[in-house]
Amino acid sequence: MANNHRTFRNVTHGIVVRICAFFARHLFPAQLRMPFYKMMGMKIGKGTKIAATVDVDQSAPELITIGNNVWVTRGVMLLCHQRDLSQYEVGKPVMDCELVYKPIVIGDGAHIGIGSIIMPGVTIGEGAVIGAGSVVTRDIPPYCVAVGAPAKVIKSFANLEK
Ligand SMILES: CC(C)(COP(=O)(O)OP(=O)(O)OC[C@H]1O[C@@H](n2cnc3c(N)ncnc32)[C@H](O)[C@@H]1OP(=O)(O)O)[C@@H](O)C(=O)NCCC(=O)NCCS
Repeated sequence: MANNHRTFRNVTHGIVVRICAFFARHLFPAQLRMPFYKMMGMKIGKGTKIAATVDVDQSAPELITIGNNVWVTRGVMLLCHQRDLSQYEVGKPVMDCELVYKPIVIGDGAHIGIGSIIMPGVTIGEGAVIGAGSVVTRDIPPYCVAVGAPAKVIKSFANLEK
């Protein structure tokens, strides 16, 4: 069975995170939203903007690290948990599989296109551009364009260094 035990401390923490997430998602302009993301436990660098309607994993926001001057556009989802299917078998409810939590890291200057989903455990390299509507399931190298579901690199600028 999955471990669903909740202590009073983590229930109250969960409530605070969800209240912060509400303000982080809806306040305008973006500068007003950033302190709420930080109160949720996210690590966010300078000059970074997170658009309204971005969905941050409320069960583990402290696993999300975003560098400087990143632009996370509208409707992006940052997901840090999923079911561990390694023990899944016929006749067993998938809900009984344990949840696994993995960090997300977004490098300096990256741009996350509208409506993209960043999956648990993914590192997006510095200066990477993720196309609109992408599902990023694997690490993305620095200074490239990656698109699609699953996201694949279609252009690289890394070999154009001065
Ligand atoms: C990914 C992106 C940056 C690519 O721009 P680009 O480098 O000018 O690339 P192109 O438009 O030349 O497209 C290159 C190829 O990728 C495909 N492509 C572009 N964007 C794509 C996307 N989001 N998903 C899937 N394929 C995409 C194009 O169809 C093209 O394929 P082809 O070579 O088979 O014709 C851009 O399309 C994009 O999605 N930008 C994000 C927009 C956004 O989120 N804006 C939010 C407001 S700031």
